[in-house]
Amino acid sequence: MGVTQEQIYEGLDLDLSWSERELPERERTKHVHRLHPYLGKYIPQLVEELFRRHVPAGGRVLDPFAGSGTTLVQALESGLDSIGIDVAAFNCLLMRVKTGAHDRFGLEHDLRDALARFERGEGDARGSTAYVRAWFAPQARDDLLRFRSLASGYAHADVLRVVLARAARSARRTTHFDLDFPQAPQEGPYWCHKHRRECRPVERAEHFLRRYTLDTLVRLKEFARVRSRRSVEVLHGDARELELPGAFDAVVTSPPYPGLIDYHEQHRYAYELLGLDDLRGREIGAAEWGTSGAAITAYVEGISAVLASCAGALRPRGRFVIVVNDRRDLYPEILERAGLGLEQRYQRHVNRRTGRRAGEYFEDVLVARR
Ligand SMILES: C[S@@+](CC[C@H](N)C(=O)[O-])C[C@H]1O[C@@H](n2cnc3c(N)ncnc32)[C@H](O)[C@@H]1O
Repeated sequence: MGVTQEQIYEGLDLDLSWSERELPERERTKHVHRLHPYLGKYIPQLVEELFRRHVPAGGRVLDPFAGSGTTLVQALESGLDSIGIDVAAFNCLLMRVKTGAHDRFGLEHDLRDALARFERGEGDARGSTAYVRAWFAPQARDDLLRFRSLASGYAHADVLRVVLARAARSARRTTHFDLDFPQAPQEGPYWCHKHRRECRPVERAEHFLRRYTLDTLVRLKEFARVRSRRSVEVLHGDARELELPGAFDAVVTSPPYPGLIDYHEQHRYAYELLGLDDLRGREIGAAEWGTSGAAITAYVEGISAVLASCAGALRPRGRFVIVVNDRRDLYPEILERAGLGLEQRYQRHVNRRTGRRAGEYFEDVLVARR
């Protein structure tokens, strides 16, 4: 790649490493960043700083692995145009809701009206499936299905669908300590490691639907006050196959990493309730494929193909800014295969204070060009 690791390695970048006190959770999850849980996102303040360093003012950015839309949301806040791609339909729905230019009065009317009708007992609870019957207690199931039937009648139906998914996630029959990837429904009381007492699975969804409808309204309004009117587009599909419009100033992204997360499966309830298109077979590096030699080879080929395709859409002076914890040292080969040269590499300390994933954790920011 032209330069040695020593020449390009700049050590820990303190301006990209925040402590809990410097950057508390409410800032990391400001406005729409907390519309719905998503495992595997990067934080908005990192993206803001990377834009400042690597994207010209008023420029246009591409994120081929856009996930929950952190890049796109921050592009709007930073006055940049953006396009995001993701293979997972729920992620695309979430991004569209976060970045959509919602009409303020219409949004407020739709959300409050749907909630009021739901609370008056309106809506149709038919349309249950085997998954819904297994994962939700009878009352929770009834609440979710009624809300779903009401949602479809509004102009802001997609916003209500995201509320529904968030409430469904909270109302599943799971233990409190396994919300990310529960293996089987938890039907009765259990010993809870998180709360150190006996807990019971949730039985209703009504309180979640109310709380999340109102929270979503507040968050979308907060974002409306700080966002610009720059353009934003969300494309659903496999980034290896989609044709990209040209002339980007930068690709800013955090790719999936092999064997860590199943991006469709983490939102399984949403696919089941909303009938979304499931393209899990096209996910690169899904946990499901494991970390065998063949899986790693497929991963390297997959990410290289995406980066090579993005390279063709980049302006000559454009940069790739890739955030990754490359503990298998796969990226030197990936960049080479994609025809990219590494220019700079920073390391940042990731503050993961809570949950089972807590502990020391570092990630790299790779800056590359054609
Ligand atoms: C690490 S996450 C990105 C998270 C994002 N930076 C955020 O803050 O929300 C990687 C994303 O790549 C997506 N992905 C995996 N394979 C893909 C493919 N073939 N084409 C497009 N997206 C893909 C996954 O669905 C996942 O959302």
